[in-house]
This record gives sequence, structure tokens and C-alpha cells, in this order.
Amino acid sequence: MNKTVVSISLPQLAYDVIIAAGGLSFLGQWLSAGEVPPLTAPRKLLVVSNPTVFQIYGPTLIESLTQAGFEVSTCLLPDGEQYKTLESVQTIYDAALQHRLERRSAMVALGGGVIGDMTGFAAATWLRGIPFVQVPTSLLAMVDASIGGKTGVNHPQGKNLIGAFHQPKLVLIDPQVLETLPVREFRAGMAEVIKYGIIWDQELFAALESAPQLDRYEALSESLLHKILTRSCQAKADVVSQDEKEAGLRAILNYGHTIGHAIESLTGYSRINHGEAVAMGMAAAGWIAEKMDLWKADHHHRQLALIQKTNLPTAIPGDLDDEVVLRLLQTDKKVKSGRVRFILPAAIGRATITDQVSSEIIRQVLQQLKASPAQVQG
Ligand code: NAD
Ligand code: GLY
Repeated sequence: MNKTVVSISLPQLAYDVIIAAGGLSFLGQWLSAGEVPPLTAPRKLLVVSNPTVFQIYGPTLIESLTQAGFEVSTCLLPDGEQYKTLESVQTIYDAALQHRLERRSAMVALGGGVIGDMTGFAAATWLRGIPFVQVPTSLLAMVDASIGGKTGVNHPQGKNLIGAFHQPKLVLIDPQVLETLPVREFRAGMAEVIKYGIIWDQELFAALESAPQLDRYEALSESLLHKILTRSCQAKADVVSQDEKEAGLRAILNYGHTIGHAIESLTGYSRINHGEAVAMGMAAAGWIAEKMDLWKADHHHRQLALIQKTNLPTAIPGDLDDEVVLRLLQTDKKVKSGRVRFILPAAIGRATITDQVSSEIIRQVLQQLKASPAQVQG
């Protein structure tokens, strides 16, 4: 089997992101062969998923784990960002209690970023921390959410306000599962891929620009998909390895997320998905950077063109109240000493962090983005 491994190297620990087509059937074998040293069989594994993903991929994963000698139980949570709550985490704790998970047991997250974030948080807190494995099934979770150890849930007042840093022992990416990912979710993942192109990897950005089509999984060649996965995971690995707990550099991974989170929250976490909100947030950051003369108009236009080529939105909903958005920005985790910190592009491949964006510029850009032509979904 062809495997590409991207390593995350942190001061206290290291782990691998394995990218392998068909890898889902081999997880048990790899774990039991000691490829992830603390997780050899026999031990209890709690697989956390949602019904959408579990009915397609659950049986293969469970079979692989039980064949390898693990004692496997499952916990299914309702599907959707609106269920990324403490209540859902309580359901995981209940399952952990029912199946008597111990310190040497582990959780396995099978699903998109919502499942991964909640499973990671439950693993971080159950018995003060047990190991977990990420098996991301959405593009967004593969290239971003499953790597780097940010785990958590939303508070009604804001996204991801409750959480913990807890690194997985292994991330297993099986690109074949993308075949069943809805096209809208595929595009959402592409928003994070474009993000890496802007903040870190101009070669990745150029590869995306030269692809004939980017707006659906079927349109990507095998080699482009491989490049997208490996370079995105490598970008995240590079950043997280340098700054695990977001003391500085890691904040650039929040590019597009400042205004994006506000939009997601104000639209009830259901009308607009995370990636779409990030696409809107990147468009906003691009306009802000242009107004502040931080990057060239040409780069700004290339960013907008790439977002639109992916069929992601660059316009924001017309019914958003600018003042409410501004107020919400103040509750974002990225506020430092009362000032909102923005990640802004300096060039394709380079970002900068600033708290010098005035409310007036934000208002102007929100108005401008409401007037932009909306992108079609579908
Ligand atoms: P998601 O988990 O809601 O998944 C999107 C949808 O796709 C869901 O309905 C899911 O059931 C379905 N799905 C997933 N894989 C599938 C597959 N292979 N086939 C068919 N359907 C499939 O959303 P997401 O976009 O994966 O993740 C978004 C979440 O990730 C947000 O909560 C965001 O805050 C979080 N996130 C976390 C980090 C981090 O560093 N921890 C980074 C980025 C995003
Ligand atoms: N997605 C932002 C981060 O991992 O830091």
C-alpha cells in the first residue's frame, strides 16, 4: 500500500499523519503492529462518529479494529455543527462510562471536524486525558481540523470557546472516503486549502491556480489531490511544530476565521458552513489588506479568483447587521487586550498579524462584501 507520512514534531511528543488510499481497512493492523506505540491491542477503543459517516465507513473501520484484537464500542452523535456542544460531549462521557474506558483505552474519531473536535475534547478530559486517533472523513478535517490538537465545542455565544489542546496519537487520512463527501463540503475543505496557499505555500497556490477545475472532487486528478493533501498537512505541521499552543505564529492558521467565525455564529451554525464562512472571511481580510496597502492588488485579485473558481462565496449575507458583527468580533478568542487581532495577507504565501484594523475599515469592507455578486451553490 502506498503511504505518505507527514510528521508532527512537538517539544513533548511526535505523531504521524498517514495519507493512504484504502487505509481505513488497515488501521487495526497498523495500530496492533505497534506503529503507534502506546496503542497496541488488546485494549478498549471507543469509536465516535455520526450516523451519516458511520453507516458508510463504520463497518470497515470496526472490522479492521476488531480483527486486530481491539475491544471496540461505538458512540454516535447527531450530525451537524449545531450539535458541537457540551451536551454531545456528555453523550461521549456516558458511552465511556458504559463501556468502562480506562486510562489505557482510546477514542477514535471517525468523521468531519465536528466529530474530531468533540472526540478530542472528550479524550482530553475523560479521566484527565486518554489517547485518541483521528480518522478524518471530510476534506476540511483531513487538511486542518484533525491535525494540531485543538479540540473543543461551541458556546451559544461563540464558536469553539470551550476547548483544550490535546494531540492525537495518529491521524489517518484515507482519500477514498472523499468520494461520498457532498460537493458543498468538498468546497468547504478547499477553503482551508486555499488558506494554506495564501498564508504559507505559494507553490500550492500556483498549483491550484493552474488546475483546470477545482470545484468538485471528481474534477481533481489523483496527483493534484495528493498534492493538496500532502502540502496542506505539511503546512499545518510546519506551523504547529513551531508554535503548538498559539503563542504567536500559529495564529496565522486563523486566516479568514475572524470575520468567518462571526458569520458562522450569526447565521446559527447551519445556514453557512465553516469553510464557506472562512472563504467569506478570507475575502474580507483580502479587502482589508488592500485598503491598508498591505498587499498588491494583483495578489488580492488572484485570491478572489481562486475562491470563486472553487465556487465558494466571496459575498456575505445581506441581512447581517454590521454593528452586531463588530460586537461579536470582540468576543472572539483572537481578541488581545481588547483589540481584535486580524490575520492579513502580505503576499501570496505570506501573512501578517495585526491589531491595527479600525472599526471603520471593517464597516466599509462588510458593506462592500454585501454588495459583491453572490456565488451559486450546487
Ligand atoms: P462536519 O464535521 O460537520 O462535516 C461536514 C458534513 O459532511 C457532515 O454532515 C458530515 O457528516 C459529512 N461527512 C463527513 N465526511 C463524509 C464523507 N466522507 N462522506 C459523506 N459525508 C461526510 O464539518 P467539517 O467541515 O468537516 O468540520 C468543521 C468543523 O471543524 C467546525 O466545527 C470547525 O470549527 C472545526 N475545525 C477545527 C479545527 C481544529 O484545528 N480543531 C480546524 C478547522 C475546523
Ligand atoms: N485551525 C486553526 C488552528 O489549528 O490553529
